[in-house]
Amino acid sequence: MKNILITGGAGFIGSHVVRRFVNQYPNYHVFNLDALTYAGNLENIKDIENKPNYTFVKGDILDEAFLEELFAKYQFEGVLHLAAESHVDRSITDPLAFVKTNVIGTMNLLNVAKKQWKDDFVGKRFYHISTDEVYGSLGATGLFTETTAYDPNSPYSASKAASDHFVRAYGETYGLPYVITNCSNNYGPNHFPEKLIPLFIHNIIEKKPLPVYGDGKYTRDWLFVEDHAVAIDLVFHEGKNHETYNIGGFNEWQNIDLVKLLCQQMDAKLGRAVGESEKLISYVKDRPGHDLRYAIDASKINKELGWKPSVTFEQGLEKTIDWYLSNEEWLKNVTSGDYQKYYKEQYK
Ligand code: NAD
Ligand code: DAU
Repeated sequence: MKNILITGGAGFIGSHVVRRFVNQYPNYHVFNLDALTYAGNLENIKDIENKPNYTFVKGDILDEAFLEELFAKYQFEGVLHLAAESHVDRSITDPLAFVKTNVIGTMNLLNVAKKQWKDDFVGKRFYHISTDEVYGSLGATGLFTETTAYDPNSPYSASKAASDHFVRAYGETYGLPYVITNCSNNYGPNHFPEKLIPLFIHNIIEKKPLPVYGDGKYTRDWLFVEDHAVAIDLVFHEGKNHETYNIGGFNEWQNIDLVKLLCQQMDAKLGRAVGESEKLISYVKDRPGHDLRYAIDASKINKELGWKPSVTFEQGLEKTIDWYLSNEEWLKNVTSGDYQKYYKEQYK
């Protein structure tokens, strides 16, 4: 039995990764370390909580002493690091929180892994899950490749870029066996309704305005979250040490076109008149420093590891909408309390 540590496993992507590892690998004991911030929710992984090869540990990656104890006790052989502050808009109002968790928290994990593994790196792996936002913004053409220079624009992407650099530096300086992936925008079940797709699904259900930033012509490359989890599984097992892999959906959408597609699918599901939800679209003040376009060249992971997305955007979006419509309780729980305060401040 190998002990594997996954951080941030109560969050959106982390919960899908934890589920996949627990179900696919009975020879691993998966420890899910999560501080349960506003974005973490044990309901996301309720279906696996009683599996014999799974343990949840509530803890903060900012607490280095606690991490040391945890590593000493369980002798992890692999770390998949997803815990982070992940929302760009929140990073604009509170950048320091992002430096703390994303930079210092990652440093703490690197330090304890190095200390624990220093005599024997064989069979060990530190996998840092990162974002395409570290590359900055594209113009109308071109794609991000693994050699695109880092050029982050938001406090969130700057903090992720810094953490990527530290992971790489620990590999070069101390020989820590690491791998990094930089992925495009994910969507799917369990996505916290502060991000575009789940926020708009929630607002369409509630018949509330759909706040499109700026002119709505910003472009993102969308990937279904379960396809990201499959890619993470592949890279963890078959990726090469000291390498970076870009992961993307081959699926670019301007925000306004995506929102219109979402409105159409939701109207059909909710039995509303054609065009009803589009009337909720409301153009609002732009996000400061808003990156115009992200698009990933995922040919390296495709050629070297044989990965490609398994669902089309229309299929993935339908699965996502169905999940939200049949998990109203989840949505109600995460949008009560602090969420209301956040929403008022952000969209005032
Ligand atoms: P999320 O915000 O949904 O989840 C983050 C999780 O980390 C939460 O469960 C939270 O409780 C936990 N966490 C936060 N601070 C912590 C701390 N100090 N100690 C321990 N746990 C803590 O994030 P997500 O969207 O699932 O993203 C996961 C990772 O993937 C992040 O590193 C993010 O940068 C990266 N990523 C996200 C996307 C995307 O589209 N969502 C795309 C590419 C990369
Ligand atoms: O590219 C990967 C990144 O994708 C991840 O690293 C981040 O963790 C994740 O949050 C996401 O960042 P974005 O800023 O691209 O995602 P978000 O859903 O916040 O916004 C998507 C687009 O929609 C962006 O152009 C801003 C716009 N938007 C967003 C919100 C929340 C709106 O127009 N209105 C909104 O209310």
